[in-house]
Amino acid sequence: MLTRLPGLTDVHAHLRQPGATHKEDWESGTAAALAGGFTTVLAMPNTQPAIATGEALEAALDLAHGKARCDYGQYLGAGPNNAAELAGLAGCAAGLKLYLDQTYGDLKLDDMSLWMPHFAAWPKDAPLAAHAEGKTLAAALLMAALFERPLHLCHVSRREEILLIRKAKERGLPVTCEVCPHHLFLTEDDIPALGAGRSEVRPRLARRADRDALWANLDVIDCFATDHAPHTLQEKDGDNPPPGFPGLETALPLLLTAVHEGRLTPEDVVARLRDNPRRIFGLPEQPETFVEVDLEEEYEIRAADMQTRCGWTPFEGWRARGRVRRVTVRGALAYEDGEVLAAPGSGRDVRAKA
Ligand code: DOR
Ligand code: ZN
Ligand code: ZN
Repeated sequence: MLTRLPGLTDVHAHLRQPGATHKEDWESGTAAALAGGFTTVLAMPNTQPAIATGEALEAALDLAHGKARCDYGQYLGAGPNNAAELAGLAGCAAGLKLYLDQTYGDLKLDDMSLWMPHFAAWPKDAPLAAHAEGKTLAAALLMAALFERPLHLCHVSRREEILLIRKAKERGLPVTCEVCPHHLFLTEDDIPALGAGRSEVRPRLARRADRDALWANLDVIDCFATDHAPHTLQEKDGDNPPPGFPGLETALPLLLTAVHEGRLTPEDVVARLRDNPRRIFGLPEQPETFVEVDLEEEYEIRAADMQTRCGWTPFEGWRARGRVRRVTVRGALAYEDGEVLAAPGSGRDVRAKA
């Protein structure tokens, strides 16, 4: 028997085009999204070049327009000198991303004085998202409070972070957050088996107490997001392994497995992969769009069966219970049993004017 879920949204994916299409591109990344039950993806701006100007945004949206197989939005990346220019583009972007800690790419804003123009200029009703870990997260929360504006915190991974966000919410601050499946299902105990290079990810895999605190504070978590960050196996096993895990095709199966185990309800999953993303990011309805899953089917997760170009998964060999069987987007069959049917260019920009 198949169970019908609404089309899901991943608010945090790295699709690598322009600049690193050997890792992923709009076609392969959105194929992976559909295979994972996602009918909308919001693409991060740390491409090469980064999406940090109007020109770069236009070029990225042109690429997506021709190639995306599911609906999409493109984030802008905050730089040291672009706050005014980007603010004028807010209506065309998924949101503005602030990189406040070191990670992959060159978008990091080093000094808090560089954050301020963005907190000041970016419209309060447009999504503002931050990569901020530990005490940087505390600083970002303070900045949001001082500028009296909403802030979305990406990939929260530690106990101290989720507890701080709980406090901020209790205090009434308009803060929201996302947590990635890899921080819910992996810890630093998994590093030896994964290997040093393959376990590189930012935020790093954390302690068991951190993972347990995420589960214990599920009510504080607004969204699940994949942080799909494909790098090839060759790169991960090479001398200078870049941080990041692919995640689009494993997120829903892992979460459905947790449903099967009684750790989540289907409603918990749909709230965090559809309702809250839509509200926080102001996303349009997708009529006649749904995902059919077999909640009972048990299968082995294998990179060889995936659409992503990166060729590996940190969950290789895991048994999942709950499989994506069919995805329908706007009435058209987009994915069925391992085959992506949606054509490149069939996806729509979530910011397109109706
Ligand atoms: O592990 C990560 N990889 N964390 C990030 O913040 C960026 C991402 C990437 O783009 O590879
Ligand atoms: Zn990040
Ligand atoms: Zn990311």
